[in-house]
Amino acid sequence: MNKQFLDDVNAGLSANQKYLYSKYFYDQAGDALFVKIMNAPEYYLTNAEHNIFKNQTAELIKAFDVKNKPFELIELGAGDGTKTLELLKYLQGNFEFTYLPIDISENALTKLKNRLNREVPEVNVITQQGEYFQVLNKLKAINETKIILFLGSNLGNMLDENARKFIKQLADAMNANDKLLIGVDLIKSAEIVLPAYNDKAGYTRDFNLNLLKRINKEFGADFNVVNFKHTPEYIEEEGIARSFLTSVVNQQVHIKAINKTFQFNKGERIHMEISRKYNDAILSNIFKDTGLKQTMVFKDAKNYFADYLFEKQDEL
Ligand code: AVJ
Repeated sequence: MNKQFLDDVNAGLSANQKYLYSKYFYDQAGDALFVKIMNAPEYYLTNAEHNIFKNQTAELIKAFDVKNKPFELIELGAGDGTKTLELLKYLQGNFEFTYLPIDISENALTKLKNRLNREVPEVNVITQQGEYFQVLNKLKAINETKIILFLGSNLGNMLDENARKFIKQLADAMNANDKLLIGVDLIKSAEIVLPAYNDKAGYTRDFNLNLLKRINKEFGADFNVVNFKHTPEYIEEEGIARSFLTSVVNQQVHIKAINKTFQFNKGERIHMEISRKYNDAILSNIFKDTGLKQTMVFKDAKNYFADYLFEKQDEL
């Protein structure tokens, strides 16, 4: 049993404003639903970033400045690797490197490794399961040049203060020639953003409800998912999308593993996820005083998404 997960569930459902952490979405069923979300027509993020990787592959790799020197290509939250595959195909055979995908989901990593063995057999792949913060310390031990990829607007799941702490730690693990490529979704209108978190096929709804099912399975809870409604929001002025599950009735939910009952009033919400959107000002505020400086930015044809390249600031 995952004790940390159970403690987090207990704390989240005991809070005045109930919440669960989105990092727990990714069990096997959650991984499969996330793949469906990425392929849903409304979820523009993946296509937009893929557009950058497909059309600007050479420019990206040139900016990494790794010709004729061995390096480690490290990816945080690698997922199914579709975007990175564009880089790997280009790099394979011409550059000396190892690809180190890191993900919270062992299942996603196994699938990724199989896929890469088929599609880019010459690439040396070493997978690592873990949470971002746990993995950061291990990064420090790598002496070769590090190119760190943090794509897909994964940063957007963090509140800005946490994002800054995370980036600071990442920066502390980087040396002079290392680079960080960070992909973020850009602030745009609700007509575009909200459907991405409320797809017609209902994958995003199921993705959120799946966390309740996971709690049922792993901790013997009795969530009845038909009593919860997926109610996403997007506030354009802030640039933040939030997902909630709203209780449609007055109900109690019991969790066996802690022998505890939780009351949900009709209309009460569980906060499930934030998906922050960015602009230059928000991003530079997060990177302020982290010791990193932005050197380049790559955008897709529609200007929906941006990949920013950072490197260490010169020491004073
Ligand atoms: C993987 C964090 C980038 O926030 O857009 C997709 C996760 N949640 N649909 C996002 C997600 C609902 C996704 N990230």
